[in-house]
Amino acid sequence: MKIAMVGSGYVGLVSGACFADFGHDVVCIDKDQSKIDRLHDGIMPIYEPGLAELVGSNVKAGRLTFTTSLAEGIKSADAIFIAVGTPSRRGDGHADLSFVYAVAREIGEHLANDAVVVTKSTVPVGTGDEVERILKDSGTSHKFSVVSNPEFLREGAAIGDFKRPDRIVIGAEDDFGRETMRAVYRPLFLNESPILFTGRRTSELIKYAANAFLATKITFINEMADLCEKVGADVQDVSRGIGMDNRIGSKFLHAGPGYGGSCFPKDTLALLKTAEDYDSPTRIVEAVVKVNDTRKRAMGRKVLDALGGADNARGKKVALLGLTFKPNTDDMRDSPAIAVAQTLTDAGVTVEAYDPEGMELARPLMPEVTMVEDPYAAIKDADVIAIVTEWDAFRALDLDRVKDLAKAPVLVDLRNIYRPDEVRAAGFEYTSIGRG
Ligand code: UDX
Repeated sequence: MKIAMVGSGYVGLVSGACFADFGHDVVCIDKDQSKIDRLHDGIMPIYEPGLAELVGSNVKAGRLTFTTSLAEGIKSADAIFIAVGTPSRRGDGHADLSFVYAVAREIGEHLANDAVVVTKSTVPVGTGDEVERILKDSGTSHKFSVVSNPEFLREGAAIGDFKRPDRIVIGAEDDFGRETMRAVYRPLFLNESPILFTGRRTSELIKYAANAFLATKITFINEMADLCEKVGADVQDVSRGIGMDNRIGSKFLHAGPGYGGSCFPKDTLALLKTAEDYDSPTRIVEAVVKVNDTRKRAMGRKVLDALGGADNARGKKVALLGLTFKPNTDDMRDSPAIAVAQTLTDAGVTVEAYDPEGMELARPLMPEVTMVEDPYAAIKDADVIAIVTEWDAFRALDLDRVKDLAKAPVLVDLRNIYRPDEVRAAGFEYTSIGRG
């Protein structure tokens, strides 16, 4: 099959490389000339484990190419995927669909054969209908079908998620769409990955419902963690105790500083907007968004408490370990570390931070924070060490060395990666999330 992937960002590039690895002939298209030039040189625009190798081997095999020309890229494609960004629109929180519609118009202008046009970007309900209208209005004489095929991949585990998905969701309104998508995903059917065919609007909503549900699960356990702290219970055990019930499930019940990233914050907001537009409020999701926003700032106050309170914080030093919204990515979008750092610097605290991949993108977001080249440099002379992201490097800190370097052995672990008894036995004052 010949596949065109319009948009070579996170989703487009990972999906394009994986489709090529299935044996399809894939062209990744992007307007950004420098991004395409770098891809030709084997330089990835994002950090994702295994991606550079996957791209490299498929380019070498001649199955994966890159271009800035949409007209060229979609020529003779059986399936044209739209994988451009749908950021939150400034001011109102609606998903900004201007990139998706601009691509749809360009596809309409240049369509040179019958093809299925697939929205892979996360798009609100009804976007597929609008893409279909745009293609019809273009006056193209070729047969086309507009399909929704949302992506559920997680950053840091994207390639594994793509190749071994829990499910593939395809929202199609006709046989041309369904049969083409069956052929696109044939290698995964052979793997027995479950596939769900639905209507197009249903498929669009599934993506938002999935992300909102996961965000709810995290927020629920985060609130339970707060309650655990008050009543002297252990949230890790609460999580295990409820997660063993198959109806609940053990995943996404890890308490922490609040969810961030490129999907949950943006998609929950966009779902609220859709619900508002259709006069069908989703009050649970409204609460989740509010609770999560408040939580990020509360985490900064937790670190201030470890310093002896906001009034005693001025002039003290905090070492922030981990800045990205989760490990194995350089993504800083809506990372809790931003709110934590802001709360600290507002209180006059000196903050030195280290992150294995995120410092470049973090710098402009936290101009008052000094970035240093290794965790121990940040820890030197710190009054409090705060772990904000659970990178493996922080699980294996040399605690004796930390104690020698720090001004005071005070550890605030916002990801519960240490065992309280162990770190306390090593001589640390230790605060974590929801453990008594
Ligand atoms: C998410 C969805 O998992 C994915 O299916 C969708 O396509 C995109 O959004 P991603 O944003 O890459 O993926 O990261 P994920 O691993 O889901 O984590 C999201 C946030 O939730 C992170 O900030 C993470 O730290 C937090 N989280 C996750 C928790 O606080 N606790 C958990 O138990 C799980």
